[in-house]
Amino acid sequence: MDSMKRRDFIEFLGGASLSMALGTCLPGCASQGLSSQKILPLEVSSHDQLVTHKELDFYILNSYGDSLGSGKVFGFNCDYNCIIPLPGKTNEALLWTNHEFIDPFFVNLGQKNPFARSKDQVELEQKMVGGSICHIKNLAGQWTVLRDSRFNARIDGTTPIPFSGGAEVLGAKMAKGTLANCAGGRTPWNTVLTCEENYEDFYGEVSYEGKIRKVSKSKEFSWEEVDPQAPEHYGWVVEIDPLNNARAKKLLPLGRFAHESATCVRAKDGRVVVYMGDDKVNECFYKFISDGPNSLESGKLYVANIGKGRWEILDAHENPILKKHFSEQKQLLIETRKAAKLAGGTPLDRPEDVEVHPFTKDIYLSCTNNKTKDVFHGSIMRFQEDQSDFTSLTFKATTWKEGGLEEGFSCPDNLCFDPKGNLWMTCDISESLMNRSHWKSFGNNSLFVIPFSGPQRGEVIRVANGPVDSELTGPCFSEDGKTLFLSVQHPGSSSQKVGKLTSHWPKGNNAKPLPSVVAMKGPLLDNLMR
Ligand code: FEO
Ligand code: CA
Ligand code: CA
Repeated sequence: MDSMKRRDFIEFLGGASLSMALGTCLPGCASQGLSSQKILPLEVSSHDQLVTHKELDFYILNSYGDSLGSGKVFGFNCDYNCIIPLPGKTNEALLWTNHEFIDPFFVNLGQKNPFARSKDQVELEQKMVGGSICHIKNLAGQWTVLRDSRFNARIDGTTPIPFSGGAEVLGAKMAKGTLANCAGGRTPWNTVLTCEENYEDFYGEVSYEGKIRKVSKSKEFSWEEVDPQAPEHYGWVVEIDPLNNARAKKLLPLGRFAHESATCVRAKDGRVVVYMGDDKVNECFYKFISDGPNSLESGKLYVANIGKGRWEILDAHENPILKKHFSEQKQLLIETRKAAKLAGGTPLDRPEDVEVHPFTKDIYLSCTNNKTKDVFHGSIMRFQEDQSDFTSLTFKATTWKEGGLEEGFSCPDNLCFDPKGNLWMTCDISESLMNRSHWKSFGNNSLFVIPFSGPQRGEVIRVANGPVDSELTGPCFSEDGKTLFLSVQHPGSSSQKVGKLTSHWPKGNNAKPLPSVVAMKGPLLDNLMR
């Protein structure tokens, strides 16, 4: 009990009371493997290295610029990873990786000023976002990329992508590409959901006052200076089918906002529920319930009203408040945030990734921080649907873990459950704050495991630290849980001069830093999977 605070213990009882009362383990839980193997936490570090726990090793699978065959290359700033099984092949799979954003400084040779970039330079940047599909094979426990596989594919910022249901958005049936691809999800039918998060950084944003439409410029990449596109074409969840020529569509019914993640679960009645965060301060937490069992092209969108413990429907016809503001559902979806606030959605502290525990069915949501409210270290919230029914319209919510010195983590972002139901978490302290001020003692951004059973149940244990300026993103397990795929995003991102880079990871010496996906393995994972 020493290391588990009383509140955590009581909270955990809520999630695991059945197994504890019976003195047994939930199906698949890791109690035996953990009872004899104490995981000692890794020390904080600020080195320009990917530092791992002594029982965890890594190798690089893909770095920015690596060939995927036929002229295709692995894109910039890797994020969400997702394994898609290949039918009939137990030791092979497809690995989807998001490429969230570019850094013109690295993609276009030291060029920071967006207004000085040519159309060709912007097109190069457009090709480095989106996602990659890589065919991978496990050879004696080590995964390798089959670089010339016919399955390898790129979706990028130039790929024409239709809107779901044949819908038109501002008179167009297709968007030019996908971008800002942050986290995501996997559907029960093995397609990938890739989430368009900070889309306004690329082509700007739009606002509506009644019927008056106002477009504001991008403050970050300014692609609209040479290639203007409608902001309404971005900010959606995009479904990709890696087994069918990477066919893609933008799913309008899931709403338009800074989509962090789209975590899918199958409800008892066969419908699919998708939980989604909106990564902006004082924005909301959403869920979507599909109409049918195998498609997300129709269904209902809801926003969490935490004070009332209720999911509020975002429907222009069914919600009497929204009826007064929106005459059609498509416009409501384009302005999802406005509708959510009108309907009673609760503003949160940057709701980012969300995951559902595979056995207890509890839902965990990272809230990264909210400097407008002096919330510097964020928290992990837990939601429990009534009757553990994902389609329930009522729920209970609580703060499960608070970031800060006591727990040893700050700014939680990506979450992932391993096959035994332990929670893995990466943190996102921005590079301008890392190792400074309120965040000084947390060191570089890190990877943590929180066991859900065994003597260390509930402890937040640091197991890896990223290189300088980087953020560890997209944790994802192989089916057997013995390999953890992880992205190392934006190492060296605060570099200002080509001759004075802040990171040279992974090659060292004077090399340019390379965002990369690594595969981790070792006794730490083997013991957890026992
Ligand atoms: Fe792209 Fe909210 O992280
Ligand atoms: Ca994130
Ligand atoms: Ca996740």
